[in-house]
Amino acid sequence: MLVDIDFKDRHVFVFGGTTGINLGIADAFARRGARITVASRKAENVEAAQVRLGAHGGEVFGVCADVRDFDAVGRAFAASVERFGPIDVLVSGAAGNFLCEAKDMSANGFKVVVDIDLIGSFHVMRQAYAHLRRPGAAVINITAPQSYIPMRYQAHACAAKAGVDQLTRVLALEWGGEGIRINSISPGPIEGTEGAKRLMAPTEADQVRAAARVPLQRFGVPEDIANLALFLASPYASYISGALIPCDGGGALESVKSTLELAGQAGAS
Ligand code: HXC
Ligand code: NAP
Repeated sequence: MLVDIDFKDRHVFVFGGTTGINLGIADAFARRGARITVASRKAENVEAAQVRLGAHGGEVFGVCADVRDFDAVGRAFAASVERFGPIDVLVSGAAGNFLCEAKDMSANGFKVVVDIDLIGSFHVMRQAYAHLRRPGAAVINITAPQSYIPMRYQAHACAAKAGVDQLTRVLALEWGGEGIRINSISPGPIEGTEGAKRLMAPTEADQVRAAARVPLQRFGVPEDIANLALFLASPYASYISGALIPCDGGGALESVKSTLELAGQAGAS
């Protein structure tokens, strides 16, 4: 069930919005009447997302751009603004991840994730800045519990997502005076997504085990994240800026507990 907030004729731009969680967010805004732009690297993903989002009857624009390419990101914003006007809601969620112990990770393996997640987020927000509606624009960064919980085999993503959350806070300070709000959403494991498959639930049995560690006893679904994004973008959230909001069934609390337990075990031995 999606929360009932109207975004009719608002321009919502979702970078990395062609698959998974971010596509779920774009879909939720499309259902509520927004004009949607989605952008990512692969033409086949952009085309498929356009078809899915267009089925709700509204206007959809798709554009191919790699967040690592500052100029391409700028061109994507220019093209979408020419079509739909200033951006009311910007969601920045392009990311890459894989599991690899730091001692085995190549310099390029570390760099590629930092380039996509952190530098890419800066490119997106920096290039969007001129096009954000003022006052009133809402920016939402999609980060992860990795930003504040150290996780084995994810040195690259932990470092990158921590950086993204600091960007959220700094830009909330710098852009608040212009009436632009910026927040981060930190999703827990979300069913059926690439991230969950890669990191914790390659099989159904793995998912069942991982879900049992979530206090609410289930993985999230894309609508859980979309509902929070709808709220954060709405006037109901008009006094919320610079916040990092977990949407994870309480999972981060359990991870913190596990980390502390592990530390306790290490101390006891
Ligand atoms: C070790 C790896 C690796 C792996 C890639 N590399 N995969 N190293 N283990 N599994 C290394 C490569 O060897 C190479 O280093 C470097 O990383 C760059 O690899 P490329 O394949 O050339 O990069 P590229 O084509 O740009 O692809 C980027 C990518 C890819 C991140 C590696 O996986 C991708 O496009 N991912 C997007 C989709 C995705 O990851 N979605 C999940 C997001 S989930 P060398 O030294 O050989 O050159 C998420 C958090 C979820 O973000 C949190 C859940 C709780
Ligand atoms: P996903 O389906 O792989 O989504 C990633 C999106 O980013 C895709 O649209 C991808 O499209 C795009 N992208 C990747 N690299 C890009 C680049 N260099 N330039 C432009 N676009 C790029 O992953 P997901 O699991 O749904 O994750 C979405 C977001 O949620 C990420 O920020 C992730 O860190 C976060 N998150 C996910 C989970 C989870 O359980 N899945 C949990 C916590 C946080 P192209 O391949 O076409 O470029």
